[in-house]
This record gives sequence, structure tokens and C-alpha cells, in this order.
Amino acid sequence: MIKPLQLGNKIFPSNIIQGPLAGISCAPFRRLIWQYSQPAFACTEMISCKTLLNQPLALQQRFVKKDPAEGPVCFQLSANNPEELADATKKVTDYGADLIDLNCGCPVRKIRSKGAGSKLLTDSAALFKLIRAMKENTHVPVSIKIRVQGDSNEKFNHEIAKMVADSGVDYLIVHGRHWTERYDVACRHDEIEFFVNELKIPVIGNGDIADAASLKKMFATGCAGVMIGRAGVGQPWLIAKIIAEMQAEKYAIPALKEIGAVFIDHVEQLGELIRSEKFAVLQARKVAKYYARDVANRIDFCVAINGCKTIADLKAVALRYFI
Ligand SMILES: Cc1cc2nc3c(=O)[nH]c(=O)nc-3n(C[C@H](O)[C@H](O)[C@H](O)COP(=O)(O)O)c2cc1C
Repeated sequence: MIKPLQLGNKIFPSNIIQGPLAGISCAPFRRLIWQYSQPAFACTEMISCKTLLNQPLALQQRFVKKDPAEGPVCFQLSANNPEELADATKKVTDYGADLIDLNCGCPVRKIRSKGAGSKLLTDSAALFKLIRAMKENTHVPVSIKIRVQGDSNEKFNHEIAKMVADSGVDYLIVHGRHWTERYDVACRHDEIEFFVNELKIPVIGNGDIADAASLKKMFATGCAGVMIGRAGVGQPWLIAKIIAEMQAEKYAIPALKEIGAVFIDHVEQLGELIRSEKFAVLQARKVAKYYARDVANRIDFCVAINGCKTIADLKAVALRYFI
């Protein structure tokens, strides 16, 4: 259950992690998580090694900036080439990564067609080389985040587990879905349990955790820690709330008015990060539905947010709905 977590050479006070979410997991999002909760660490979104190595640093702030108010950060990389991954690993270590993860689960066609994301799981020898490239170029703990096997290839989990055990990776994160499965298919806890039983290194279980009951279900796999994805968006207090629930304590979530203020704070920080109000307004459309879980007219609210052009417009809409 909830307890300290040792990953490689680092020990974290708890074993609940905020996972990577493309388009969301940048510094303003993570700072809010730390303002309300104490995760073991939080992740960046997946960052392409090509972007890291070739784009000017000024254009990468959304991916690489750490906020002084946040705790440990795991930088998640996307790669298909060991040399590039080695250089990117050195780079993010210099930027202050506390841990480094390789994305081996992304199902998006554009990523798979480049031989990255979940496509990496089709060639365990090549994946082994990528892991070695990370291990040999950083002193921080290294992981890979995978999906599980589909029904068609029974050997897949065994082959990946063997490669992982041989590779020297410090821990493994398992999202309990096959890459072809959407979120309407339930997370397969039995497949996460397979990796827990097969490996000596810590396994982090991921998929469908949103409250104490789903957390207990994941811990029942025997995993050393858990990762929360979508449920952390729009409720940065979730990890604190779940920890309180597990200790049979009451946790008062913020009033709707405060949630509206957190939404605006999040959006304003995004605008400052990229120095673009337009960017912040577009991002607001992405996160609005998550903050509006308890808003009476959630759909109307999201429609109104989609019509906003400035942060002042967003504030006016938030004031109308978060009451
Ligand atoms: C919008 C969105 C973006 C995501 N981006 C990433 C990503 O950049 N890297 C990654 O490994 N997983 C990504 N994921 C997957 C999540 O990290 C997580 O594995 C998945 O949502 C299951 O966990 P959950 O049920 O707690 O959300 C993303 C998921 C969503 C919904």
C-alpha cells in the first residue's frame, strides 16, 4: 500500500506518482499538483529526442522548464535511435531531471510510424539497446513505460519481461492496456501482476486509478507503486485526497469557487510559460472539462470556454460557472 518507494539510487516518501500527459504535464500543471499534494514525483509529457537535440532551448520551455516550487520530475523521452537517446539523456540530466523514462506505450500513429512509442515493444533487442543508451549516460534512475500484450501474441509479455530484467533498467511502469485498446476497455490488472511476479525490480502499476478503491485494486497486483494519469488533471488535490481516504481521514476538496480560481491560475501560468495569451486560451480548452467535473452545466461551460479569445474572457466565464 502507500509507503516509501526506492527506485534505483533514490528514495521517495510515497509511492504515488503523477504520470505523463501530452499537452498537459508541463511545469504549471505539476506546480499545482505539488501545491495540493505530495506525489513521489511527477512526469513531463513525452519529449521527442529530435526536438530536444535540434530546437533552440527557448522554444522548448513547455517541455523542459522546472518550477522552483515543484518536487522531483521524471523527464519522459521519445526515441527510436540509441545515439540520439544517449545525447538526449545527457541533456535532460543537465536540465535537472530527477529520473528519466522512455515512452514505450504511445499508440498514436504518427509516433508509431517513426518506430517510437508502443512500436518499440515489437523489437526487444532494439529496445534493450535504447535502455542501455539511457543507463550509460545518466546517474539518475531510468525506467520504461510500457503497454501490455494483446490477445494475439501470447509470448509478448514474457519476452519483454526477460529483456527488462537483463537490461539493468531501474524500474518498470506498466499501463494495463494493449496499444490498440482505448480507454473504454478496462485496465488489465492481471497483466500488471504478471510483471510484478516476473521481475525483481519495482513495477509501477498504471490505469484507471481515481480513488481509494481503484488504488487498492492496483496495489492488489503487488506493484511497488502506482501512477495516476487522467484523474490528476483538474484536481491537483487528488493524491492528497486519496492518501487521506486510505488513512480513513476526511479530506475537504476545495469549494467550486476555488476550483475556478485554480483553473484560471493554471491557464495564466501556461500563458507566462510560453509568453503567449493565445496559447494559454487554446490550452484552456484542453483542461476546462477536467476542472468542470462538478460544474452544474459542464457542457455549456466548455462551449463558453471554446468561444473565449482572451484570458479576461476566460475569467468572466469561470466566474459565471464556478459558483
Ligand atoms: C491526453 C493524454 C495524454 C497522454 N500523454 C502521455 C505521454 O505523453 N506519455 C505517456 O507515457 N503516456 C501518456 N498518456 C497515457 C497516461 O500516462 C496513462 O498511461 C493512461 O492515461 C492510463 O492512466 P489513467 O487511467 O490513470 O489515465 C496520455 C494519456 C492521455 C489521456
